[in-house]
Amino acid sequence: MKKMPHIARNPAEAREFLSLHVRTRSSVGLVPTMGFLHEGHLSLVRRAKEENDICVVSIFVNPLQFAPAEDLAAYPRDMERDLELLSAEDVHLVYSPSPGAMYLPDRSTLITENSLSRCLCGAARPGHFDGVCTVVLKLFSVIAPDRAYFGEKDYQQLQVIKRMARDLDLPVEITGCPIIRERDGLALSSRNIYLGEKERAEALVLSRSLDAAEELVRGGETDVTRILDVVRDVISACPSVALEYAEIRGADDLAPLDIMNKRAVCALAARVGRARLIDNRVLERRD
Ligand code: PAF
Repeated sequence: MKKMPHIARNPAEAREFLSLHVRTRSSVGLVPTMGFLHEGHLSLVRRAKEENDICVVSIFVNPLQFAPAEDLAAYPRDMERDLELLSAEDVHLVYSPSPGAMYLPDRSTLITENSLSRCLCGAARPGHFDGVCTVVLKLFSVIAPDRAYFGEKDYQQLQVIKRMARDLDLPVEITGCPIIRERDGLALSSRNIYLGEKERAEALVLSRSLDAAEELVRGGETDVTRILDVVRDVISACPSVALEYAEIRGADDLAPLDIMNKRAVCALAARVGRARLIDNRVLERRD
């Protein structure tokens, strides 16, 4: 039987564990999560385990990245199950501070990335990436990881965090890991739990629209407007899926594109019932 991971509830406990277990030459891999773990998270954990001596998973539903009208209170949580899953993966440390241990009531510092975070989800959720950057920097500060692992499903988040780490000279390697999908194409997300059976079936138009975009690009289409028209058509076939945005931007700088003249990402956000879902596909021309 695998051992339960050690649980640290505040920065001092996490630092104490790490000071006892991290030897001079050992490396630390961090997987930041908001819990309610699924195979997508576990794929990050497995990669972190493979590439590092010590594997730390943080579980913290970060209030700072939710707007007042968003789903902070309803966000799914199941600590017991998360710990079972992490003990099966032989994770060394779970860092799960309470909101009070993470944020002092008179805190007055916020980390803002001012370019990549402005479009896509950043435009739809003002302040969201300030919350993400602030909590991720705090996690880096406590855990001091050599490597940190993020899913490519949150494509914009990954780019924003890479930029923050670069701009602030953070001594951590940021690794993006592939989106994990159900067999029928639905990207794994903790928020899929909000979907009823019918909504779950309807949500498949998102990955299907990305398949269509990929096929067009493979077939030589370079006109971004034409590709997006097809993406929107596929999604609009299911009127209960309310598209928030469908955009094609540069894969690294997230700059708007008219022509597919470089590696690009097609990114989507849509409401399906109570769930706000995101998905994306990196698009590369064949030539
Ligand atoms: O992707 C997430 O689950 C969160 O945004 C993160 C990176 C753990 C920060 O709260």
